[in-house]
Amino acid sequence: MNAFVTRLIPEAGLQMVRQVCQVRVWEGELPPPREVLLQQVAGCDGLICLLTDPIDAGVIAAGGRLRVISQFAVGVDNIDLAAATARGIPVGHTPGVLTEATADLAFGLLLAAARRIPEGIEYVRAGRWRTWEPLGLLGAAVWGATLGVVGLGRIGTAVARRGRGFGMRVLYTSRTRKQRLEAELGLERVVLGDLLARADFVTLHCPLTPETYHLIDERALRRMKPTAVLVNTARGPVMEMEALARALREGWIAAAALDVTDPEPLPPDHPLLSLPNCIILPHIGSATVAARERMAVMAAENLLAGLRGEQLPYCANPEVYGEGEQLRSERNGGFSRRGLGL
Ligand code: DGY
Repeated sequence: MNAFVTRLIPEAGLQMVRQVCQVRVWEGELPPPREVLLQQVAGCDGLICLLTDPIDAGVIAAGGRLRVISQFAVGVDNIDLAAATARGIPVGHTPGVLTEATADLAFGLLLAAARRIPEGIEYVRAGRWRTWEPLGLLGAAVWGATLGVVGLGRIGTAVARRGRGFGMRVLYTSRTRKQRLEAELGLERVVLGDLLARADFVTLHCPLTPETYHLIDERALRRMKPTAVLVNTARGPVMEMEALARALREGWIAAAALDVTDPEPLPPDHPLLSLPNCIILPHIGSATVAARERMAVMAAENLLAGLRGEQLPYCANPEVYGEGEQLRSERNGGFSRRGLGL
């Protein structure tokens, strides 16, 4: 059997696949070009891909003998799930193992934006620190502030827990009410409009779907407090980037801290890159040694199960096995624009 892996991933996962398959790994620094993807997919039984690979209907159709697609990520918005399901191809992904790493980064971004940490670093490096300043680099208090979590799935919940640890009042949106978590963590479920109006910090944790595309647009940004901070570790297209740049320039909100953008990377002349109140990281939410190793093992487990003709342990399109809407909705954290009060 042949497997194609679209980038070098941690050895722990590759080793598992090598024991069973002839493995070809694309070792380029950038993702394989489309023609390479099409050519490789045509000859392989299993594919391990990344969020940077557009696995559209054309690529899936090229995989005449493809039995499984295994994504090295939890998000699968780069894959045409309907096209895979239509061809009976299960799609694996890696939920759970990157939750805490991503939540740590989201909270780190929140703190960095609130307390203006990158500006402080820059200030010192530029030799501008001459004395202790009573009015210098004042930021926003995190302790006791209100946190708004958009999408209370695994990562959203992990960020909510961190917020509670910082004495924050936590609001959340979700199509389904999470009563157990409300009771355990003292969370309050609200519609998105209220969350945006009340939160001092808004953190995005919804998957990218047609419902959440440009969820944070001009209208949403204008509902936020002028002192508010927006954090996004989910997917770039959940925000409307031009509207965000205007919001930061014109003071509709105070700051943004992003691990994801649209596109990725941003072009060097993008307005967001020159704003002092915007922090941008290169999509490193899951980038810990431990999380990436577990993701590689999970991607391998999914691939191997698919090649054996078994149900994938972590499947993003369970409908391929005849399971229905209920499961699909659970996978999305019960997420729909309607449920957000938009
Ligand atoms: C994911 O898994 O979807 C992250 O964006 C990358 O780890």
